[in-house]
Amino acid sequence: MDRLRVGVIGVGSVVREIYQYLYYRSDFSHLLDIVAVADPNDGYRNWFCDTYRIPENRRFRSHRDMLRSVDLDVTQVNTPDHLHAGPSIDSLEAGLDVVVPKPTAATVKDTHAMIQTARRTGRLLGIDFHKREDPRLKEAEARYQSGRYGEFQVGVWYMLDKLMVADPNFTPMFFATADYAQKNTPISFLTVHMCDAVIKIVDLAPVEVRAVGYAHKLPSLTPIAVQGYDMVDTEIRFRNGATAHIITGWHLPNSAHATTVQSGRMICSEGMFDLGLDTPGYYELHADGLRQINPLFKNFEKDGSVTGYGISSPGRIYQRILASRNGRLDATVREQMASATALGFYTSLVLEGAERSLAQGREVARGVTGGATVDLRTLLVDTLGTAAAADYGY
Ligand SMILES: NC(=O)c1ccc[n+]([C@@H]2O[C@H](COP(=O)([O-])OP(=O)(O)OC[C@H]3O[C@@H](n4cnc5c(N)ncnc54)[C@H](O)[C@@H]3O)[C@@H](O)[C@H]2O)c1
Repeated sequence: MDRLRVGVIGVGSVVREIYQYLYYRSDFSHLLDIVAVADPNDGYRNWFCDTYRIPENRRFRSHRDMLRSVDLDVTQVNTPDHLHAGPSIDSLEAGLDVVVPKPTAATVKDTHAMIQTARRTGRLLGIDFHKREDPRLKEAEARYQSGRYGEFQVGVWYMLDKLMVADPNFTPMFFATADYAQKNTPISFLTVHMCDAVIKIVDLAPVEVRAVGYAHKLPSLTPIAVQGYDMVDTEIRFRNGATAHIITGWHLPNSAHATTVQSGRMICSEGMFDLGLDTPGYYELHADGLRQINPLFKNFEKDGSVTGYGISSPGRIYQRILASRNGRLDATVREQMASATALGFYTSLVLEGAERSLAQGREVARGVTGGATVDLRTLLVDTLGTAAAADYGY
């Protein structure tokens, strides 16, 4: 087999910003044949299918109709987080491999169900946390795990988007749904990236979470106000006692020099390291203003192709799925792909823990919610039972 037959489920903003380039203009496009699309939103479905000439009889409102009607090898599930599990599980049960953009799912229960189904069906499930392919994070992982810095003690990470990302009054609207920022939080959209990165570097399980949420800017928006958090500081305690603060938000002024301003600092017993993720080394001064370009993430090349870790991260997942379909996937790689860490389990646990922390919190000042401390083992035992919790090491 030279090409995977891909069914795309959900063609909203992540497809507009990233995956359309993976599918049609990347070093991985020759491995992929996008044969069908399912999305109930007529505007988005028609935009994608008209642009890329997907025939009328391969356009579906429901993923189940698509799975019934078209021969596929793999689906990519680009639906909102709380709708990842259903289409992923249906696809795995239909004998397909599945690619999902981060986070695996909105809850531990959904994440566990997806992992269980992948293991039972023997199919591959790949989660696209694109920072896993950022060369700076890969270098940090290798150096930390060589023992060079000793024991991780405290980390501070931040990831702040321009307001236009979350503002339903901004045109064109970033998300396909006007209430995205109300139904989602900076935790589900941003914290999960940094949480996955920290876990990848230190390879430690999180045990406790507490979050503080700030809601000043979004509720003040007009004419559509958003009842949601501008920014959240999530404090994660790891098994070795180390603490990471992950500070994320989506309310930076739209005049910011980059869509996402981000960085990380890790202090360890034998040294520290800084990850200047928002200094990729390219600034332009132009009539539009002083702008930062991040070619490491997404680079529009002269020949029309698009490169960068935003593309190579999902691209490598597809390479492995194709190798598996051809009976050539290395057993160690397969095992690594099936691990709870690779499948984003611990990040889902932090996500649910942080959202629970805020839900159980109290207002400590105007617009500021001080979250409760959430014990992640208790959360896991309450949700999945002691046997499943023990399987995940709790
Ligand atoms: N890799 C990244 O950095 C990145 C960036 C943005 C979003 N994401 C993730 O991608 C996913 C989608 O986010 P988005 O920003 O594109 O959201 P979005 O709201 O812009 O788009 C979601 C799309 O899914 C469609 N959809 C909803 N229910 C469906 C169903 N049952 N079947 C088929 N389609 C359905 C919607 O109509 C919409 O077009 C989320 O999990 C999000 O966290 C990842």
